[in-house]
Amino acid sequence: MSPSMAVLLVIIFLSFSSTAFSQSPSDTFTPKDNFLVDCGSDNTTEVPDGRQFQSESQTSSLLQAKDGYKVSANDANVSSPIYSSARIFKDEAKYSFNLTQPGFHWVRLHFYPIKNNVFDLQQASFSVNANKYVLLHSFNVDNNSNPILKEYLINATEAQFTISFLPLKNSAAFINAIEIVSAPNILIADKGAALFPVGDFNGLTSYAFQPVYRLNNGGPLITSTNDTLGRVWVSDQPFLTNSNMAKSVSVATDAIKFPNSPSISPVIAPQTVYASATAMADNLTNTNYNLTWKFDVDNSFSYLVRLHFCDIVSKSLNDLYFNVYVNQKMAVSNLDLSAINGALAVPYFKDIVVDVSLMTGGLTVQIGPANSANAIMNGIEVMKMSNPVNSLDGEFGVDGKEGDGSNRTAVAAVGFAMMFGAFVGLGAMVIKWHKRPQDWDRRNSFSSWLLPLHAGDGSFMGGSKTSGSHLSTSAGLGRYFSLAELQEATKNWDPKTIIGVGGFGNVFLCVIDDGTQVAVKRGNSDSEQGITEFQTEIQMLSKLRHRHLVSLIGYCDENEEMILVYEYMSNGPLRNHLYGKNLPPLSWKQRLEICIGAARGLHYLHTGTAQGIIHRDVKTTNILLDDSFTAKVADFGLSKDGPMGQGHVSTAVKGSFGYLDPEYFRLQQLTDKSDVYSFGVVLLEALCARAPLNPQLPREQVNLADWALQCKRKGSIEKVMDPLLVGACDPESVNKFAEAAEKCLADSGADRPSMGDVLWNLEYALQLQEAFLQAKDDNESDTKYPHDLPISPQEANNNNNDGDDAKEKQDVSIEIHSETTMFDQLSNVTAR
Ligand SMILES: *[C@@H]1O[C@H](CO)[C@@H](O)[C@H](O)[C@H]1NC(C)=O
Ligand SMILES: *[C@@H]1O[C@H](CO)[C@@H](O)[C@H](O)[C@H]1NC(C)=O
Repeated sequence: MSPSMAVLLVIIFLSFSSTAFSQSPSDTFTPKDNFLVDCGSDNTTEVPDGRQFQSESQTSSLLQAKDGYKVSANDANVSSPIYSSARIFKDEAKYSFNLTQPGFHWVRLHFYPIKNNVFDLQQASFSVNANKYVLLHSFNVDNNSNPILKEYLINATEAQFTISFLPLKNSAAFINAIEIVSAPNILIADKGAALFPVGDFNGLTSYAFQPVYRLNNGGPLITSTNDTLGRVWVSDQPFLTNSNMAKSVSVATDAIKFPNSPSISPVIAPQTVYASATAMADNLTNTNYNLTWKFDVDNSFSYLVRLHFCDIVSKSLNDLYFNVYVNQKMAVSNLDLSAINGALAVPYFKDIVVDVSLMTGGLTVQIGPANSANAIMNGIEVMKMSNPVNSLDGEFGVDGKEGDGSNRTAVAAVGFAMMFGAFVGLGAMVIKWHKRPQDWDRRNSFSSWLLPLHAGDGSFMGGSKTSGSHLSTSAGLGRYFSLAELQEATKNWDPKTIIGVGGFGNVFLCVIDDGTQVAVKRGNSDSEQGITEFQTEIQMLSKLRHRHLVSLIGYCDENEEMILVYEYMSNGPLRNHLYGKNLPPLSWKQRLEICIGAARGLHYLHTGTAQGIIHRDVKTTNILLDDSFTAKVADFGLSKDGPMGQGHVSTAVKGSFGYLDPEYFRLQQLTDKSDVYSFGVVLLEALCARAPLNPQLPREQVNLADWALQCKRKGSIEKVMDPLLVGACDPESVNKFAEAAEKCLADSGADRPSMGDVLWNLEYALQLQEAFLQAKDDNESDTKYPHDLPISPQEANNNNNDGDDAKEKQDVSIEIHSETTMFDQLSNVTAR
């Protein structure tokens, strides 16, 4: 310990022992760095809280831009004058700030799409980086006509702090105002609590944060005027799921006594936050319940949850004991606030890190009485944490890369959290960053539409709804079904007939007039996958007829319904036959035939129509099997007509984690080679009988593509292939197959083969296997065992499990458990 630290500790100790509490601590904070830039403004601008934003002429030295359009408009509807001007950039632009002090800084970006002659800002799509962090990826205000504030807390380690704006191809970036302001050191402590297992979480200061919710429980709105750090705290009412069982309590702000502790002061949260709380309603006789707050969050990120407490309800010490749960896990048990400082009305806060693996069901915070009849909560802050590639938006880092090996695990974990959703049947993992509102209300994002319980408010589709008019006027869309007809066939949408659940809605199995079994996909009215994708799917499918594509039989759009009727694929998705469902394993020959079928389907999509079609979401859950195990490619909702070959489609990134072509993500340019990449992952899944991402495995094995190719290059492909196949298939055939997969997974699209080439290689692998089986038959004509060996599912499972510590087993069983309880009857899932 250094002498100065020792002195500091002594001082703290002394101050504790003399006056334990201070009535009026310094509650103002003066930031060392305080850059407030009103972009595009000719004059200094004073905002309602009294702060002065600087004009263009005062800040011109900060900006480096190839172009630069200053626009302004007088708009009486906006709350702050900073929204009446903006900068527009059609090319990359940077603001650089020279900081005087390292450490956490607030970065606040203000966006308001003002009307102008340069660019329609409602349509502007761009990314924003701050030093090494991605703040926004393919951001778009998405018809939001209110000002948008994006707030971040970033630990600056260099004097130069740069915010860059990167417009997408043929688009523009814009910004109305920027704030770069020092935050007090105590705001983010390095140590928080991990939730599961409960323990310390160290290293918080090495993350960047994006506050997404900040609540003053039981109290009023606190604006930037009333918080020395310029924060806004809103009421908790909208987040409380059982507000009828809650009541608001408050005391005068001067009753709040901050302890003389270096770690808590009014900069952590203003007195007003601690002077009010939400508590259990006292008119209820039964207090055996929890108060629950629920937050929409992006399931692919970890969050720092900061809970603020202050016992303003007890009459005496040791009177209030309660439990705090985060995502159903005990976060603090038997909390007695009075015991922490030996006094009442003393602020206390607790930082809890909710790991991405616990984010599958959104974020909930609950409190319930322990040894008393009450429980309180004074404030809740929810901050998104940067992921291992230093992004706060999306999976990729500032260089467009997924990061090196050391980052893989966590990136994969991101994917896994999402894939877990798929495992429990909640549908396609579609990435829809583009044209979606961000953060504060991510209701429209992929992470929430996976979860029926967050089903959006329907407004997303509102604009484009074709108010009940039939599409049937346009010819060639297959048979038109009346709503009544389908209601009857599905016994009025009897849940017992549901065979699949997805982002779009439910899939029902029923029989139509002539006794044909069909799969009926009914879009739920507040599905985010709106009418546009519905129409795309009808148009795509009705144009396409191929033995290896799932055919559309007809549709119904009566009463704004979005219903598609498909041929029924009784054996469900390929994935179910590879892993996770305990179905009898497929032989190598069957796997080859299925992959060949799917490759033919994709080859037809790419080349069989005049303009070529890119599937965009190739994965093992979109390859369905009929009763004779013929593979058919399904799900064209995301497909895109596109010029193929030399051309490309510049588009929003869509697709599924684990299958996403990194080049597509980087360049946002879609070609048929993106499907080829995803198909390479499908091939490896078929060979290895495991998921593309499995964070339960040792780090180097998490990503199937990386691990399998590594093994292949070392000549030890058997290390990663399905153990059931070893010995039952021709090594040459496997080699040919693995080679095909490797080529598909080439970094650059140009180096990947066409689907036609892939098909050729797979057929060759099949020939090799058939020759092998023939020879084996000849040699061992007396053997009892067929090559398509049926092995009991349990055995298969054991063989497949290469790690075996207790935790892993437990996790696996949890996963299977949730599948069987929720979707027991859904073993045959068609479409998404
Ligand atoms: C915020 O500050 C203003 C001006 O100082 C004051 O009038 C108002 O009561 C404060 N509001 C809260 C919620 O503290
Ligand atoms: C409160 O919530 C926790 C975690 O979700 C749960 O385990 C507990 O049973 C709940 N208590 C009551 C009384 O509902």
